[in-house]
Amino acid sequence: MDVTITLPDPAPDQAIVWRDGHFFLLDQRYLPDKEDYLALESAGAVADAIKNMVVRGAPAIGITAAYGVVLAARAAYQRSGAKWKQAVQPDLERLRNSRPTAVNLFWALDRMRQLITELPDPADPTEALLVEAGEIHREDIEANKRMGELGAALIDEPTGVITHCNAGALATGGYGTALGVIRAACEKRLIERVYADETRPWMQGARLTAWELLHDRIPVSLLVDGAAASLMSQGGIGWIIVGSDRIAANGDVANKIGTYGLAVAAKHHGVRVMVAAPTSTIDMSIPSGADIPIEVRESDELLSCGGKRVAADGATAWNPVFDVTPAALVDAIVTEKGVVLSPNEKKMRNLMAD
Ligand code: MRU
Repeated sequence: MDVTITLPDPAPDQAIVWRDGHFFLLDQRYLPDKEDYLALESAGAVADAIKNMVVRGAPAIGITAAYGVVLAARAAYQRSGAKWKQAVQPDLERLRNSRPTAVNLFWALDRMRQLITELPDPADPTEALLVEAGEIHREDIEANKRMGELGAALIDEPTGVITHCNAGALATGGYGTALGVIRAACEKRLIERVYADETRPWMQGARLTAWELLHDRIPVSLLVDGAAASLMSQGGIGWIIVGSDRIAANGDVANKIGTYGLAVAAKHHGVRVMVAAPTSTIDMSIPSGADIPIEVRESDELLSCGGKRVAADGATAWNPVFDVTPAALVDAIVTEKGVVLSPNEKKMRNLMAD
């Protein structure tokens, strides 16, 4: 059973918290109404939390899964002693199967799995795995700060920007990818106004991005998703700034459904598209966006709103939650290792080789 608590003094900006041997997630399903944390005691509970959107956003899912491995290994060692490596496998599989698109999940699990192979069988693995999960968490925040600087440097004059979904502190270890760039650019007074798509059906823009930006006293105007093209046609928008769940070897970008439409409209209006994502989001094993597994969630998410059915009885729905923006529509991919302008396979290989 889920245990909800009000965490005393959560670090500002921290949706993912390990404290005194316990793991907590800010329950993003109920923001901004409630700022409650869920206490998660097992890897199974962590996998369910990822699947059910308690935590979401590619880097945040990866970090959460890494802490899930710590819980899994601790329990496996308590149950099976020196046979813990075998006993932990079903939990690793469960975490792997929680959501399919964000490659950060698999990247973090592979990193934890590698450490598991190196640890001695007889000793309690909890501490070593916790250090590694903490390191993944810390590195992500650091990467976001660096992307913030690099992305802000691409904005040459004060302008309006549009963002989609939530690619902020809530979606990462802290600070954010797209919202990290927006935060850094705001400090330099380069942003005249942030427009956030509301992002049906989970309303990450209306609930999460607006909540985060207003916490930082950054004014934000919400748009219904279909209004972005119209706004661009009126001028005053210099950049679309988004995050990503997986970037293929040729620079194609999977992100929240609607990003592709935004990029097509941006091209038509001469608005530039910036994708801010750490290198843990880049999947060089996938040649193009066509090979990225796209999660399709339950139709009920679309047919209802706020728990109440809104669609006509008998209507069905198609609910893919990500789409692929071809590299040709992307002006810049900003990573912690550097910026790739007009991405293609050669440039992506060079970035990842450095
Ligand atoms: O379904 P979600 O809320 O997990 O989707 C999140 C997104 O699409 C984000 O834009 C992406 O993960 C980048 S987060 C830094």
